[in-house]
Amino acid sequence: MNPKAVVTRRPPGITLDALEEIADVWLWEEDRPIERSELADQIRDATGLYSMLTDTVDADLLELAPSLIVISNMAVGVDNIDLGACAQRGIAVGHTPDVLTDSTADIAWMLIMASSRRMQEGIEFVRSGNWGDWHPEGLLGRDIARSTLGIIGMGRIGEAIAARSTGFGMDVLYSSRSRNERVELETGAVRVELAELLARSDHVVVAVPLAPETVHMIGAEELDRMKESANLVNIARGAVVDSDALFEALSKGVIRCAGLDVTDPEPLPSDHRLLTLPNCTVIPHMGSATWETRTAMADLAMANLIAGLTGQAMPHRVPGT
Ligand code: NAP
Ligand code: GLV
Ligand code: GLV
Repeated sequence: MNPKAVVTRRPPGITLDALEEIADVWLWEEDRPIERSELADQIRDATGLYSMLTDTVDADLLELAPSLIVISNMAVGVDNIDLGACAQRGIAVGHTPDVLTDSTADIAWMLIMASSRRMQEGIEFVRSGNWGDWHPEGLLGRDIARSTLGIIGMGRIGEAIAARSTGFGMDVLYSSRSRNERVELETGAVRVELAELLARSDHVVVAVPLAPETVHMIGAEELDRMKESANLVNIARGAVVDSDALFEALSKGVIRCAGLDVTDPEPLPSDHRLLTLPNCTVIPHMGSATWETRTAMADLAMANLIAGLTGQAMPHRVPGT
């Protein structure tokens, strides 16, 4: 008998053919995240799980799944999965690093520029019929060129964000758990303490994984350390930044502006107070949202799942699982 594989959403750009050769596939066919109760039902006799970042895979769910040996998340971030509980149960967890690094670094740059140069206000100005005569002080932002870029979390995506800064002649500061000598050599980036990065940077980009120690890593105290002219961009996970503290800082002019690809909560309700602020640019978690990248993620996640189900080494297993 083939093992059962639960797939919580139709993966983009690929077929399930290869998986169907080695497993009995159960697919959530609807075009919305799977309901918790349905996942709880289906996981009971499953050996493999192909999950999305919208699925909460916690200890209670794993408790229901005695035969589960592999989880393959179609994302690089695995904060939706209780990794400790997986390790205890000997469940291997796969994820999709590298293939989304460039598209996510591009979105970080889109937000650095859109936020600093007030793109959202400019578009609204035009669309609302307020575009009158050219004004010498109309919609002035702050320069990108020759400014200081601060990157929090110098991993794969942080490094790709730094690499893109060289054309702008920027000074790059970073704070990260480990030193990244390659980025220092290639971009002249300098590793500093978080407090110094916040005090000196014109554009601060958050690129750390969400984990217990990074929840609200950027709160009121950190925002206070930043320049009044500074721009904060978050492409990591919403909860790394304290949303309430960010609202206060943006509305009181503690910092100048912010660009968010990720929010807390997510999705951000349309009546959320952050969306009342002209200096807060919010987009709906689009970091990896290109056809090329999403297909590559789907493909890699499928390779991870098949490897896990057939006793091979996964192309990308989450360290520690
Ligand atoms: P990565 O290569 O693992 O990089 C993360 C970096 O953060 C590493 O350098 C890591 O240091 C550092 N770090 C971890 N904990 C830290 C802490 N407490 N303080 C300071 N630095 C810390 O991961 P990645 O591929 O660049 O992805 C980063 C995150 O981006 C993902 O986890 C995901 O949440 C998010 N993401 C978002 C999107 C989107 O659509 N917006 C797309 C892809 C990824 P060590 O090397 O010492 O661990
Ligand atoms: C997207 O946010 C990812 O973690 O892959
Ligand atoms: C602006 O468009 C300029 O020509 O200075």
